[in-house]
Amino acid sequence: KRVAIFISGGGSNMVRLVEDMADPNHPAEPVLVLANSADAGGLAKAAAMGVPVVSVDHRPFKGDRPAFEAALQAELDKVTPDILCLAGFMRVLTEGFVAPWEGRMLNIHPSLLPKYKGLHTHARALEAGDAEHGCTVHMVTPLLDDGPILGQARITVQTADTPDTLAARVLTQEHKLYPACLRRFAAGDTTRVDL
Ligand code: GRF
Repeated sequence: KRVAIFISGGGSNMVRLVEDMADPNHPAEPVLVLANSADAGGLAKAAAMGVPVVSVDHRPFKGDRPAFEAALQAELDKVTPDILCLAGFMRVLTEGFVAPWEGRMLNIHPSLLPKYKGLHTHARALEAGDAEHGCTVHMVTPLLDDGPILGQARITVQTADTPDTLAARVLTQEHKLYPACLRRFAAGDTTRVDL
């Protein structure tokens, strides 16, 4: 299976996915890493690992989301991926882009969905006094952070936790969860991953 990965920043999740796919027994291979800004740190990491990279800056399209998404799709048409993974991708994608990818598009979100869709998930979990927190890999549907769940990883919230310490522990779990979910998904195995 051919996998394209969308990033916006450092791409630590992308790195783990690419590293996992380096295993010859993995059913998938990375064919593109795309960032919505040329200075996304993950682009250099992907290039260093031998993965083709491209950036499609969203700013010139200001307000014209469909035009930005057409540019994204044009890059994908060049590499014909079977699976699209969003990994720290910080742009909302409209139904126009998502619909053709539904069933072949994954995302990782730093909360135990359906709790805390959207942003600032760690602060919200602390604010709510949750004993547990974590991350979710799900299928992407047109509704934000809302599709069928492929896997979750849970951590215990500690009294001394701040949003930053919680984010760091969740990120460590993301790095285990996403590769496990992509492996199963690419192999056609839809049993949930729970870590
Ligand atoms: C992190 O906040 C992570 O929780 C979320 O996206 C952000 C950046 O991740 N998934 P990455 O290091 O760019 O993969």
